[in-house]
Amino acid sequence: MQQGSASKDSTRWSSRFAYILAATGAAVGLGNIWKFPYITGENGGGAFVLVYLVCILFIGIPVMMAEVSIGKFGRHTPGKSTVEVAKASGKPAFWGFIGWMGVLSGYLILSFYVVITGWGLAYIFKAADGAFGNGTPAHIQTLFADLTANGWALVGWTSLVVLGTVLVVGKGVKAGLERAVSALMPILFLLLIILAVYAAIEGDFWAALHFMFDPDFSKLTINGVVVALGHSFFTLSLASGIMIMYGAYLPEGVSIAKSSLWIAFFDTLVALIAGMAIYPIVFEHHLAPGSGPGLIFQTLPIAFGQMPGGQLVGTLFFIMLVFAAFTSALALIESSVAWLVEKRGFSRWAAAFTAGFGIWLLSLGTIAATCGLPIAIFNTPWGQTNFFDALDYLTANILLPIGGLLLAVFTGWIANKKLIADMIDSPAVFRLWQPIIKFLAPIAILLVFLQLVGIIHL
Ligand code: PFF
Repeated sequence: MQQGSASKDSTRWSSRFAYILAATGAAVGLGNIWKFPYITGENGGGAFVLVYLVCILFIGIPVMMAEVSIGKFGRHTPGKSTVEVAKASGKPAFWGFIGWMGVLSGYLILSFYVVITGWGLAYIFKAADGAFGNGTPAHIQTLFADLTANGWALVGWTSLVVLGTVLVVGKGVKAGLERAVSALMPILFLLLIILAVYAAIEGDFWAALHFMFDPDFSKLTINGVVVALGHSFFTLSLASGIMIMYGAYLPEGVSIAKSSLWIAFFDTLVALIAGMAIYPIVFEHHLAPGSGPGLIFQTLPIAFGQMPGGQLVGTLFFIMLVFAAFTSALALIESSVAWLVEKRGFSRWAAAFTAGFGIWLLSLGTIAATCGLPIAIFNTPWGQTNFFDALDYLTANILLPIGGLLLAVFTGWIANKKLIADMIDSPAVFRLWQPIIKFLAPIAILLVFLQLVGIIHL
């Protein structure tokens, strides 16, 4: 048997619970606490949230089941597992590119993910140190601008995040990943609840509720729909190799349908609660919900500086953010590490350090972009963009939805029906899942894309 194969017991989650916790740890991250609130703000609130929920339910969950099925059958890294499914279905091995594309997307995402996690890490210390002062907007702006322009500081924070990831992942699936998520996830949930209760008491709860759950469709644009679709993939960690990889470690007898529902449920719950922890504070202090990626770094600290107990609440908030991001970073690096072990015969530690070094190098591009270095800024036919924004847009809004489309086509049309049905292991669920993955998911993704590029106008 090949080294690194997930057919071995040491590379399986120890229980259904451990798997759900690890996959929820992968899913819950910056996407829920940093990105979801700010894209909801940029896209007008309630109507966007509704589209996002529909995408999770009808596209995200079925695609997650497809990925876990591939992993469970193949028991290898995403590329190889997809090849195994293709071969067992009598189809050419080139279908493995879908798995490879996922690993590539995951790697690209991680390269900027570690930088934002680094911002969060820096902000824990700023918050604890009372650096938000009395929350004057100009002061908070300067804090953020100083951090993101300070290349050396960013390299330092990012290196710490990469090193932490390498040290945990190097230990292996059970001793590293599983232990880390079991410790971090319960603390994360607890902090989130404390912060939401605090926001409900101290902030403008009703304005937040109205903003997030009262849809106003006049505020929704096609770009908003694309962002909602892309985000449903990003937040569930789909099309990034991870769910295939984590599926490869699935213990026998775990229901793919039920566990996927739980993971999606927890992930969505965290995003919605994070929104309800952030927006009451934003509205109470008359701040702008649509202020973009800086929302939790440039807007929220204004409130932390001004409110009673803000120093403690702010510190807890950024600790929560870093915990959430860290468990996702662990997942994001796992497929590359497992690949180096499986294909190149590396030891787990050597693989973790090698993959980590590559990520660290790539992260310099994002750091250069935030520092405004000309090497990270380019002109495109659509205008000027920088390395960071380009990576974010390319991965979340293009690679992930296309990856999802290909996964749906592969498991719905190409793979052997019986093989997938055996993995899903419930005839009733399979009957429900199949038309969604064959028709609904690919058509919906395609329509959104055609609309985006202007080929059709719905
Ligand atoms: N789901 C993570 C989040 O919401 O922050 C991000 C992510 C993790 C995306 C892992 C993709 C991935 F493979």
